[in-house]
Amino acid sequence: MPETLETDAPVNFEVDPAFRADVLRGLAEPVPAIPARWLYDRRGSELFDEITKLPAYYPTRTETALLEQVMVDLPGHVASGGAVIEFGAGSATKTPVLLQAIHPKAYVPIDISGEYLEQSAAVVDADHERIEVHPVVADFTRPVALPTEINGLERLGFFPGSTIGNFVPKSAAALLSHFRDILGTGSKLLIGMDRIKPVDRLVAAYNDPEGVTAQFNLNLLERINRELQADIPIDAFAHEARWADMLGRIEMHLVARRDVEFTVDGQRFAFAEGQSIHTENSHKYGQRGARLLLLAGGWTPLAEWLAPHEAYVIMLCEAHPDRFAP
Ligand code: AVI
Repeated sequence: MPETLETDAPVNFEVDPAFRADVLRGLAEPVPAIPARWLYDRRGSELFDEITKLPAYYPTRTETALLEQVMVDLPGHVASGGAVIEFGAGSATKTPVLLQAIHPKAYVPIDISGEYLEQSAAVVDADHERIEVHPVVADFTRPVALPTEINGLERLGFFPGSTIGNFVPKSAAALLSHFRDILGTGSKLLIGMDRIKPVDRLVAAYNDPEGVTAQFNLNLLERINRELQADIPIDAFAHEARWADMLGRIEMHLVARRDVEFTVDGQRFAFAEGQSIHTENSHKYGQRGARLLLLAGGWTPLAEWLAPHEAYVIMLCEAHPDRFAP
C-alpha cells in the first residue's frame, strides 16, 4: 500500500478549538450569537475587501478621503522621527499616507495574520526605504511586547477602519485602555470612528443591493459546515441588518426563514422560523459619545476631523499621565 493516497477528500487541517467552542456555545445561548471575528476566514476576508469597494458601504472611502485632510494638520500635533504602531495591518492603502505626512523613524504593524503583515510591510518598505519596519505577529487584543528597537521613540498608535465599532462599548473601552498599556503614557492614538446618521443610509451600508454583505454573513454558516462537520442548510437562513437605536449600532443577524434543524460537531440544534443568530455589531458614535468612549479608555481627545455631512470622524488623543482627580 502506498504511504500517501491522493483523494478528493477535503484536507483535514487543524480547526481552531476556540472556533468550535464559540459556535457550540453561541448556538445554544438563549439569544444565539457567534463572535464576529469568525466571519474572517480567507473567503470572509475576501468578501470584506469587496464590501469596502461597494457604493453603499461609505466608511472606507469616507475615511480614506478624510485622511488626506488629517495629514495636512497632523505634523502640527505629532513630531517626526517617532514610531507608528498600527493595530491590525489590513490598511496598506491608508498607512503610506500617514507615513508620508509625519516621517516616523519606525513603523510597527501588529496583526494576527503573518500573511497580511508581510503584505503591509512590503508596501511600506517599497515606498519608504528610510523607515525601519518591525512587524509583530500577535493578537492585539492580548498583551503585546513592542520591539525594543523603538525604545525611547515617541509613539503614535493608528487604529483606522472604525474597527472599534465592532466592540460593545464596555469591551471598546477595555481595548482602548489595553492600547494605552501597550503604547505607554505620553503616547498618542489616531483612530477612525463611524458616526450616527440617517437609518436608511446605515442599513443600506450593511444590506447592499449587490448582496455582498449577505454573502459575507452567510459565509459564516458555510465555514461552520466546512470546518465543524455541520449540515446547516444555508438557504434556510437570510441575512438581515438592523439598526438598534437604543444601543447605537447596526446588528447583523442570520434569520431562520423556516423551522430548521441541523447538527454541528454531533450536537443537534433547532431554530424556529424568525429566530436569529446574531453575528456582528457595528457601533456608531455621536460627537460626545466618541469623546466619552476615548476618555473611558484613558485617552484624552486632542483634535478631531469630521468628514462632509459629519459622516465619519478621525480623532487624535493622548495618554495623559494619571492624575489625582477630584
Ligand atoms: C470591520 N468593520 C469595521 C466592518 C464594519 O463596518 O463594522 C465590518 C463589516 N461588516 C459588514 N460590513 C462591514
